[in-house]
Amino acid sequence: MGACGGENEAGSNGGNADDGKITMGFAQVGAESGWRTANTKSIQEAAQAAGIELKFSDAQQKQENQIKAIRSYIAQKVDIIAFSPVVESGWDTVLKEAKDAKIPVILTDRAVDSKDTSLYKTFIGSDFVLEGKKAGEWLVKEYQGKTDTVNIVELQGTTGSAPANDRKSGFADVIKADPKFKVIASQTGDFTRAKGKEVMEAFLKANPKIDVLYAHNDDMGLGAIEAIEAAGKKPGVDIKIITVDAVKDGMTALAAGKINFIVECSPLLGPQLMDLAKKVVKGETVEQRVLTEETTFTPEQAKAALPNRKY
Ligand code: AHR
Repeated sequence: MGACGGENEAGSNGGNADDGKITMGFAQVGAESGWRTANTKSIQEAAQAAGIELKFSDAQQKQENQIKAIRSYIAQKVDIIAFSPVVESGWDTVLKEAKDAKIPVILTDRAVDSKDTSLYKTFIGSDFVLEGKKAGEWLVKEYQGKTDTVNIVELQGTTGSAPANDRKSGFADVIKADPKFKVIASQTGDFTRAKGKEVMEAFLKANPKIDVLYAHNDDMGLGAIEAIEAAGKKPGVDIKIITVDAVKDGMTALAAGKINFIVECSPLLGPQLMDLAKKVVKGETVEQRVLTEETTFTPEQAKAALPNRKY
């Protein structure tokens, strides 16, 4: 990835950066999951520690609310805007408005599909395709040497969001090599526990033989576990479960054997985001893509990690 230079935009927009205090407008996705709650906490705590004044808004998983929040940050002439886009498409106009107002933008956690990468300074977050691949690789290993059909149901994240698109495609890319793996149902659970439960109930009613559940986050997996138990089946045994995130509740279910494998996605983006924001406001050059380091967890690894898990 190429580096993205940033001309010094501080002071040209009326923000506070001239007197040394940076004001950041942050447009959060919502509070849909344990991951998101941990991410919000990380951003708020890191802003405070870095001496950055944070204007924070919760879009309740709606793109129009995020666009409104960004426009209000532009009108307030903040020094920098950061946001985690609910969905990938439809950002060019508002990002152009920020650029015209000379307010730099940082993408956190989720990407946009804008062709014009000059509309934002950097993007910090996970490689969601890789996360999907790790989930698929575990499955391939788990069923190595077996020939029976493996019926998989998939709970997708928010429709049109980068993690839903990429976790689906990464997983599909890996399992397609072996025709015994069949995704028999795939539907959005909107990254929430309630919707994960509701959709899993429908999956169970429509499909008498489900071998594996792949949920794009822990929360949907945890909701699905409730549905599986209510249907008289044993999660982790009758139906193997793979999720993404590794928040405490997910890790607890993994350690108890109700989930079989979790691919980590770190929400602790706050400190790095604040460092990047300071550099961008000063006009320093920053990498256009900053990747988060992540791992995976088996039940044994979850047991070992849980006592020190921060979120
Ligand atoms: O964008 C990251 C995803 O959003 C997390 O995996 C999910 O839990 C959250 O809601």
